Amino acid sequence: MNLVHRIGSIKRLNEDTFLMTIESPEIAASGKPGQFVNVRCGGPDAYLRRPFSICRIDRDRGTFDIGVQVRGKGTQALSAMGEGDPIDIMGPLGRGFSLDSNDRRIAVVGGGIGVFPLLQLLREHPASEKLALLGFRTRDQVVMEEDFRKECHELSISTDDGSYGVPGFVTSLLEKKLNEKQFDRVFICGPAPMMKRAAEICKQKNIPCEVSLEERMGCGLGACLVCACKVRMNGDWDYAHVCKDGPVFSGDSVIFE
Ligand SMILES: Cc1cc2nc3c(=O)[nH]c(=O)nc-3n(C[C@H](O)[C@H](O)[C@H](O)COP(=O)(O)OP(=O)(O)OC[C@H]3O[C@@H](n4cnc5c(N)ncnc54)[C@H](O)[C@@H]3O)c2cc1C
Ligand code: FES
Repeated sequence: MNLVHRIGSIKRLNEDTFLMTIESPEIAASGKPGQFVNVRCGGPDAYLRRPFSICRIDRDRGTFDIGVQVRGKGTQALSAMGEGDPIDIMGPLGRGFSLDSNDRRIAVVGGGIGVFPLLQLLREHPASEKLALLGFRTRDQVVMEEDFRKECHELSISTDDGSYGVPGFVTSLLEKKLNEKQFDRVFICGPAPMMKRAAEICKQKNIPCEVSLEERMGCGLGACLVCACKVRMNGDWDYAHVCKDGPVFSGDSVIFE
């Protein structure tokens, strides 16, 4: 596996978030929606790789994009890298979203940086009707609105503080839309409380859903157990690895703490 790739371009999305295009014909050829890459961010305090979802793939050009929000030392170091710099990336890793041609009408529900993996999902999913519901804390945090609009039939944006789009949580939007129409599957990615609530709403409506979990990671390969999450198994529960068994799980199987 070739780990050294090149940063093609960097685009600022808002004050603390940027989109990085990486030249990698290998990852662009084999990456699937919902999979992630594990990135060596550089800097003495961020030795461990950091996971980022594959946001968009351009298979013709041999590139893929990741959206990065600066949170701590690793993402800070990543934000200091420039176009043309080499970058050490392992991937694609994990299990992505299902792409079932029996699913005719789907909805994706994203919160904050959880919107990123849903873009490539919309681009590749064979459904004939696609709804995107994206929630952000406030207007300044809204990212990639036009990119999403191009890939779905209907887009609704909500902000917690009502400064843009529909006021309130994206889960309220989901509830409203599921009351109006039947969906075959819902795909969810965002903060844990949001995913928990969205999965509950889908369960009440008897609609299958998939959630993409975000846990701290070490190896990213299933070897260190840093990323354990609780899942239902044979009437009991067990630990699963988010990096290897996920990050995408069926909403029914995850035990949200
Ligand atoms: C499968 C997966 C996909 C992801 N996709 C994206 C993405 O597309 N875009 C993006 O910006 N981020 C994504 N993340 C989160 C990203 O990996 C973390 O923000 C990053 O590792 C933080 O590194 P840091 O060194 O900057 O922060 P640190 O210094 O390590 O931590 C800073 C703060 O962030 C918290 N934090 C760190 N890592 C995580 C984590 N994995 N989950 C929850 N809280 C964390 C810490 O508790 C701390 O409060 C993803 C995580 C996973 C597991
Ligand atoms: S990160 Fe090491 S097992 Fe998942």
